[in-house]
Amino acid sequence: MSSHPSPSPQTPDTPAKPVMVPEILAAKGHRKLCMVTAYDYPSAQLADQAGADMILVGDSLAMVVLGMQDTLSVTMDQMLHHCLAASRGCTRPLLVGDMPFLSYQADVAEAVRNAGRFLAQGRAGAVKLEGGREYAPQVKAMVSAGIPVMGHVGLTPQYLNTLGGFRAQGKTAASARAMLDDAKALEDAGAFAIVLEAVPQETAALITESVQVPTIGIGAGNATDGQVLVFHDLLGLFDRFVPRFVKQYAQIGPTMAEALRRYCDEVRSGAFPAEEHTMHLRPEEREKLV
Ligand code: KIV
Repeated sequence: MSSHPSPSPQTPDTPAKPVMVPEILAAKGHRKLCMVTAYDYPSAQLADQAGADMILVGDSLAMVVLGMQDTLSVTMDQMLHHCLAASRGCTRPLLVGDMPFLSYQADVAEAVRNAGRFLAQGRAGAVKLEGGREYAPQVKAMVSAGIPVMGHVGLTPQYLNTLGGFRAQGKTAASARAMLDDAKALEDAGAFAIVLEAVPQETAALITESVQVPTIGIGAGNATDGQVLVFHDLLGLFDRFVPRFVKQYAQIGPTMAEALRRYCDEVRSGAFPAEEHTMHLRPEEREKLV
């Protein structure tokens, strides 16, 4: 790993070249790829300024932003609304829109139309979908239409009811081999990268070595070609549950809560707004009032 330098965060004078699919493909074996989710203008801007290669407008939006119990009820329109907002804060990273439940499963034509909406209306540069070989026809048709597709195998939260919960996958040799077959089917269909979620490191390593496209891990150890984390998880903004594989790089939630508490206290005590937050009439105007 190394001969390709890691991108440096952009500065105001050097607008960085937008990351596109060929750069993601070329990174495999040379440098680790960094992806993070974001769901609006400020979060995308922060991820962009931090130097992320890809920003995922994940359907995790349903849980961490919209407060839903799982990801099954978020709609295409909600995803597009947030994707477009994130696109305004995303100048360098490749913006990936996550296809919500039932936006691609029913048939290929509907899948292509919905994926196309992410590019046309959400201003994404690619889409992601959950599932393996069963969606190879959808992936192939999207790629033929000029829509780059990222696959996602392992723990696929849209299969919550089939999997019996948010459970690690690929824990036996047989299931690891089945996951590898899925990853290969996605690659053969034209996927440019594959997310591996909640799988043992050995399973992730097998898949990473066996496909030519980058693998992006979340709870898959460090043998993958890149990593992704959910914005709210890594910043300590979502505490309903914290998966074991999440590293909280900060605890922004309590800091925000404390700031809001102080604001409420100061409004009640009259300490805010103070003189420096206050504007006054010019004296001649004040005189005319009395
Ligand atoms: O929706 C999401 O945030 C995701 C990532 C966890 C990969 O799919």
